Amino acid sequence: MMILGIESSCDETAAAVYSDGRLLSSVIASQADHVAFGGIVPELASRAHERVIWHTVAQAMEKAGVTEDNVDAIAVTEGPGLMGSLLVGLCFAKGLAIQWNKPIVGVNHIDAHIYATYIDEMPEMPFVSLVVSGGHTQIFYVERPLQHKLMGQTRDDAAGEAFDKIGKLLGLEYPAGPEIDRLARTGDDSFYDFPRAMMKKGLDFSFSGLKTSVLYYLQDIPKLEQEKFLKEHMADLCASISAAITDVLIHKMRQAIRSTGVKCAIIAGGVSANSMLREKAHKMAGELGVSLHIPHPVYCTDNAAMIAVTGWFKMKEGMTDDLHLKPYARHKWEKVGIGG
Ligand code: KG4
Ligand code: ZN
Repeated sequence: MMILGIESSCDETAAAVYSDGRLLSSVIASQADHVAFGGIVPELASRAHERVIWHTVAQAMEKAGVTEDNVDAIAVTEGPGLMGSLLVGLCFAKGLAIQWNKPIVGVNHIDAHIYATYIDEMPEMPFVSLVVSGGHTQIFYVERPLQHKLMGQTRDDAAGEAFDKIGKLLGLEYPAGPEIDRLARTGDDSFYDFPRAMMKKGLDFSFSGLKTSVLYYLQDIPKLEQEKFLKEHMADLCASISAAITDVLIHKMRQAIRSTGVKCAIIAGGVSANSMLREKAHKMAGELGVSLHIPHPVYCTDNAAMIAVTGWFKMKEGMTDDLHLKPYARHKWEKVGIGG
């Protein structure tokens, strides 16, 4: 079964072709328009999607070496995300579905981050999954395909949002996560002990306090010394901040694994590309004796391969949609108490 996947929930326009265990192509057009604004501008994002979506999909089909005759279904992100951005992908997918006379499958973006792991591996269910992105930080218990039960989530900022907002305080460009990761590799993570919030409070997270603590820390440095201090200690600060964020994520993940007794764990979403998180996660998995799966860094951040794979899972379960498919900005998951 061959699936064309289309993703446009935020600032990446992406298309991919996946067929029974093989990713045939994955094309991502990233938007640079937002850097000057220090964050995503929704209207700019929608317009940029609209400009490149046709070409992105055509490129994915060409790279895969397939035509519409080979495609069995079109999978598209239906939410959560920016409404205008989602609408561009959704309307384009509906147009193709009509023109090609193929079924359409709506895919939840967060589900897709989890299934990105299946592009290269076959994690066994049940598993717990930590999804850490720019908009979400959640832990799920996954017993069967596409049945995701929420065990915990952030009460304020997402982990990626924390990286990006703290990066802005440090004078780094948006999105700051990858740059903080890069700088942290040569820094001392014990340079400053930033707070780890809610360590004893179940599986929910809070990252807004960390951002405030970094702000106060920087405000305490006399103005005239700030530039020199940041020049000297940028890597140490990035390492200390990364340590604070990743310690919390690993601690909660460990709790979730222990309380459910699963033998398999997944970490996904943009922040799962973070090298410190990946290193700590592998150490934790070794200690707990569980198999750990993290997508290849290319498939951690937004892409359409994960949409195509999830669409493939949905088709296998007989879950298709029709042209009434609507976008949604938010999504509420069923919450479970295991370990919480
Ligand atoms: O999953 P994603 O591409 O988009 C959303 O669905 O939000 O995640 C983007 C987020 C951004 O906040 C970005 O700073 C963060 O993932 N990110 C990272 C790294 N790569 C991306 N954060 C820390 N370390 C990284 N290597
Ligand atoms: Zn995402």
